[in-house]
Amino acid sequence: MSSFPDVRLRRFRRTGALRGLVRETRLDLEAFVMPLFVAPDSLRNEALPGMSRHSVDGVVREVEELVRSGVQAVMLFGVPEEKDEQATGAWEDDGIVQLALRALRPRFPELVLMTDVCLCEYTSHGHCGVLVDGEVHNDQSLELLARTAVSHVEAGADAVAPSDMMDGRVHAIREALDEQSFESTPILAYSAKYASAFYGPFREAADSTPSFGDRRGYQMDPANVREALRECELDVEEGADAIMIKPALPYLDVIRAARESFDVPIAAYNVSGEYAMIKAAAAAGWMDERQAALESLVAIKRAGADLIVSYWTKDLPQWL
Ligand code: PBG
Repeated sequence: MSSFPDVRLRRFRRTGALRGLVRETRLDLEAFVMPLFVAPDSLRNEALPGMSRHSVDGVVREVEELVRSGVQAVMLFGVPEEKDEQATGAWEDDGIVQLALRALRPRFPELVLMTDVCLCEYTSHGHCGVLVDGEVHNDQSLELLARTAVSHVEAGADAVAPSDMMDGRVHAIREALDEQSFESTPILAYSAKYASAFYGPFREAADSTPSFGDRRGYQMDPANVREALRECELDVEEGADAIMIKPALPYLDVIRAARESFDVPIAAYNVSGEYAMIKAAAAAGWMDERQAALESLVAIKRAGADLIVSYWTKDLPQWL
């Protein structure tokens, strides 16, 4: 009784309702985070839909629509008016993300407001930390990252997500938050963030392409998975409440390996390049965007992600 013709796996595939009964992985909007870019009026632009920059007023309108459709979480990225060596725009009290948070917080008390904590959008050279003798200096970057995280939480962020890949930043941020009595604010660490070509469209939207060199001195080598688990382990030890793997689709094995090794919530970032590829193929008439997107997202969940940061979050209310 355990093989054909007694066993026929097609029996449960015959209709949509039968397939629904035995579906192992489901997508629900609650697990999704919509990334949003905020910029001063002078720096607004239209990038890919879902990745365009909003003004502070514009982001309020955008979030209004998202919340009305059922989206429960957003992640904010900022494009500052001016960039400098110390990434001042990242941590100053009236930085663009801080202004957006102050506008959004009182209007959407239930919404999960997360922020990306990094310096690359704010440094004149576009690297994720401060430079000393032409190299990104790990320990000197920690203080500015911690200051950035604290200023986001002061302005109303519910959670902070450091994406810089400096060693020890989770510890530094946890300590700084606790010092300001923000001990209840979780840290979602981009633990295994790879040096990836799939960030291309994001860097256009966020204006964060490094002016020299690349990020391989701090982001991970795409060839490594054991090292990714060490990154996750260190972040959990330093106090990360949840860990993230990024990008998602080319790294499903890493998501799976992390799932099997850690009991903390695992996030995956379905990055701009993953989104843009399907958008472009759909625009050329080569693929159906909705089907390709939903298949990608279910694969990321199936690999073991609990929550997913995706530019398709905005479309999910209509699609699911
Ligand atoms: C900031 C940051 C990046 C992304 C998220 N946070 C860019 C990078 O590291 O170059 C990429 C997100 C995406 O591609 O959608 N460091």
